[in-house]
Amino acid sequence: MTQDMIETARQVLRNNDRGFYTVPTKGLYPFQWNWDSALSALGFAHFDEPRAWTEIDTLFAHQWDDGMVPHIIFHQRDEGYYPGPDVWDTGREVPTSGITQPPVAGFAVRRIFDRAQDKTLAAERARALLPRIHAWHQWFFRCRDPQHSGLVAIIHPWESGRDNSVDWDDAFQRVPTDGVLPFNRRDTSHADPAHRPTDEQYKRYIWLVQRFRGLGWDNAALHDASPFQVVDPGFNAILIRSCADLAALAEELGEPRIAAESRAMAERGIAAMETLWSAARGQYLCLDRSIGRLIDSPSVGGLLAAFAPLPPGRVAALARRIGSLAEHCRYLVPSHDPTTPEFDSLRYWRGPVWLVVNYMIADGLEQAGQVELAGRIKADSLRLIRQSGFAEYYDPNTAEPCGGGQFTWTAAMVIEMLETHAGAGDAPA
Ligand code: DGY
Repeated sequence: MTQDMIETARQVLRNNDRGFYTVPTKGLYPFQWNWDSALSALGFAHFDEPRAWTEIDTLFAHQWDDGMVPHIIFHQRDEGYYPGPDVWDTGREVPTSGITQPPVAGFAVRRIFDRAQDKTLAAERARALLPRIHAWHQWFFRCRDPQHSGLVAIIHPWESGRDNSVDWDDAFQRVPTDGVLPFNRRDTSHADPAHRPTDEQYKRYIWLVQRFRGLGWDNAALHDASPFQVVDPGFNAILIRSCADLAALAEELGEPRIAAESRAMAERGIAAMETLWSAARGQYLCLDRSIGRLIDSPSVGGLLAAFAPLPPGRVAALARRIGSLAEHCRYLVPSHDPTTPEFDSLRYWRGPVWLVVNYMIADGLEQAGQVELAGRIKADSLRLIRQSGFAEYYDPNTAEPCGGGQFTWTAAMVIEMLETHAGAGDAPA
């Protein structure tokens, strides 16, 4: 049973493999996406280590000179996706988007390195990636934390990966829609429109792209010029975890300068996370940096914070909070609190469960000794797969598969969960 599931998951990865990068799924996402790739490499690493390294190498081969790693790399033309390279117009030889995504590569590289069978290959590839990943982390604190708060802002909801989260609703009102050139969405021809962001949100996504394009994608200017500047605890937790993991890796590979600088970024971030803590909600919240106020929106962004090496008391509090959500849904972890009016069980990041998020939360909980809840989250994840296959995301009550199907990172997470946590796959349905 477990072996069958692993084999099916591998097949999903193989089907979406384009040789040197992997598409998240055919049709809906026909290029390379940043955090999809880093997390998918974890799956490949269990059965093809060279291929896992190649996935991350390809991503960093398209890093910008200033250190940013773009969220999409348009390796080939595909008219089935909007907004394509002409809309972004970033002037790169191989076109890319002009914004970034959650920096999970540092974590992924350390994990693949630690588990590698081929130690020589791993040392060689990790050593080459080390300065590149470090440059990306430094780019974040230089360009997305100009006031040196210790935490970075996203300037477009797509950067968070949680595109249409309730978290952005209020701040998004500040993003105008006038001057947006007419466009045809393609996502809604590949997936049920009821599972996707609304047209109104799309206009604002595109307004921001046009604004940044008008500034020549100059990262020295974009942060301050953006009407949308949000500090997301989940995003920052991923950055902090990657800095901490890169510090450990650099130490091991004999790069003391990178180790010390990475550790310093992680420590400052951990201290600054306190400014996002909400005692009333029992979780972290986003900060609307433009107005200097916390956003009272209880989303999974504030729970994903558990992925960072935070003080154990905070992780214990997050565990209690996640435990309380379990009383209101059948499958952990919903992307928004099911007891709130904004919760929408089918619509992308406004309610559904995502396996990558479950994996990262469970990993953070485990590191902090919260193994029971971590086990429950992994068991719920595998129940979803058994029930509904390798979907993009799932209804946390009915397990209905949503968005795209045959999804690469979902399959990669299944391989991770089954290969690394013996017994989890045998949890009762
Ligand atoms: C999309 O196109 O839906 C992506 O989430 C943006 O990268």
